[in-house]
Amino acid sequence: MTEIGKDILKAKAYLQHAELVAIPTETVYGLAANAFDVNAVSKIYEVKNRPKFNPLIIHSNSLLRFDTWGIEISDRLQQLAARFSPGPLTYVLPKSTYIPDIITAGQDSVAIRIPNHTLALELLSALDFPLAAPSANPSEYVSPTTAQHVYNQLQGKIQYILDGGICSVGLESTIIDLTQKKIRLLRLGGISKEEIEDCINEEIDDLLISDNLIAPGMMKRHYATSHELIFEDDLQKITIPEKSFALRFNSYADYLPKSNQRLLSVQGNLSEAAANLFSMMRELDAMDIDLIIAERFPALGIGRAINDRLERAASKNLHT
Ligand code: TXA
Ligand code: MG
Repeated sequence: MTEIGKDILKAKAYLQHAELVAIPTETVYGLAANAFDVNAVSKIYEVKNRPKFNPLIIHSNSLLRFDTWGIEISDRLQQLAARFSPGPLTYVLPKSTYIPDIITAGQDSVAIRIPNHTLALELLSALDFPLAAPSANPSEYVSPTTAQHVYNQLQGKIQYILDGGICSVGLESTIIDLTQKKIRLLRLGGISKEEIEDCINEEIDDLLISDNLIAPGMMKRHYATSHELIFEDDLQKITIPEKSFALRFNSYADYLPKSNQRLLSVQGNLSEAAANLFSMMRELDAMDIDLIIAERFPALGIGRAINDRLERAASKNLHT
């Protein structure tokens, strides 16, 4: 029932008929629907089992197109987009009347992104509507970075998976809120806070836990594996189960045999580690083990986003 292919015309036809299509982006695969079709968008919430209060990002291929849909393009946005779009940065902006309330979960802001992926951009430019697209995983699970990841979880539930290969960034986009005077970081991701500050020459506010109310999807437990995951820092608090596996950066630890460890980047490259993270988490999750032990990554650039995802996976505060 669910087909995997590279046919943009087929993807386009499904989307025009209010069906869901999984699309590749440079960050993670998205579960896409016509953002202007309330019926199509409600299917996203059903298939993902996503809480209705969690708004969606809309995607298109240029700022100009968002402009035609009533989104105001400020100088600051233009400046940021000139440097980071297409790319892994999402902008939260004042909503326009074109955008249905189901997209924004009733909020008066809307999140927009221009993904940097050839196939996705080709598809987006062929459509006369933007695509609402959350990550193509069941709510709270690890995001997919290959077409096969999507197929494993959503087969039978969607019509088509547009196969664009392995996602090059591998972590979701950075999200910034541009609705206030001072920019605020809502989610760590492919672009670091410093890169953004450097571009506009102003300081931006950090993410706060209370911002979970602003970016409601950033619930503490997210990106979770089925097996329990803890950080190495917490190892002294437990007896390490026999069937444990370690997820490390570029070197082996001595508390487990090498055969029970995976390295995310032998070269010690943080971008490579980020690109491998979700695949590796899925791989370990499919194994018959009792515990995943994660090294904490250097708190530099995308290393901070890696730690953020691991922290959420480690969190035991399950939100409904
Ligand atoms: O990299 C990405 O951003 C991927 C690809 C597919 O583009 N998409 C993605 O979507 O990660 P999703 O739905 O898994 O995460 C979107 C996040 C959620 O935490 C949601 O709460 C937040 O964006 N969000 C959406 N609209 C918002 C708004 N108006 N204000 C604040 N946060 C918003
Ligand atoms: Mg997601």
